Amino acid sequence: MALRTIRVEGDPILNKKCKEVKEVTPRTRQLIDDMLETMYQANGVGLAAPQVGILKRIVVIDVSPEGEEPIILINPVIVETDGEQTGDEGCLSVPNKFGTVTRPNYVKVRAYDEQLKEFTVEGRELLARALCHEIDHLDGHLYTEIAQGPLRSVEVADGEEEE
Ligand code: NI
Repeated sequence: MALRTIRVEGDPILNKKCKEVKEVTPRTRQLIDDMLETMYQANGVGLAAPQVGILKRIVVIDVSPEGEEPIILINPVIVETDGEQTGDEGCLSVPNKFGTVTRPNYVKVRAYDEQLKEFTVEGRELLARALCHEIDHLDGHLYTEIAQGPLRSVEVADGEEEE
């Protein structure tokens, strides 16, 4: 595993649409391992492949208590949403900022695992927010485009989390 450089807002790669993954090669697995390591090292709860400069539809998310398995999503698609939540959101590609974003309170996502087996994941609250945020990255969108009001600055202390 290796850490990868997180691209920050202003890097044009973050505004590009990612390509579907058609096969999972050793390189794809390496990318997923590196994304997980990079996300944990940065105290993030989610990371999308374009954030490390790779235009593929791959997302990793870990909003669960320590010790639980992260969620790895290949070619994820939101197939159902319900309700609404408004809250603070951050992004590892927009360091030390956060903003207010309205998202669905529930989402159901269809995706593929590392064996390219289809599965669905349902998320509420923080997980729903993370799923929407990360899947937006795959279409070149950052939360800053939909944040209500100005972004605010935050002094990120050790252990705080960003998406
Ligand atoms: Ni993000």
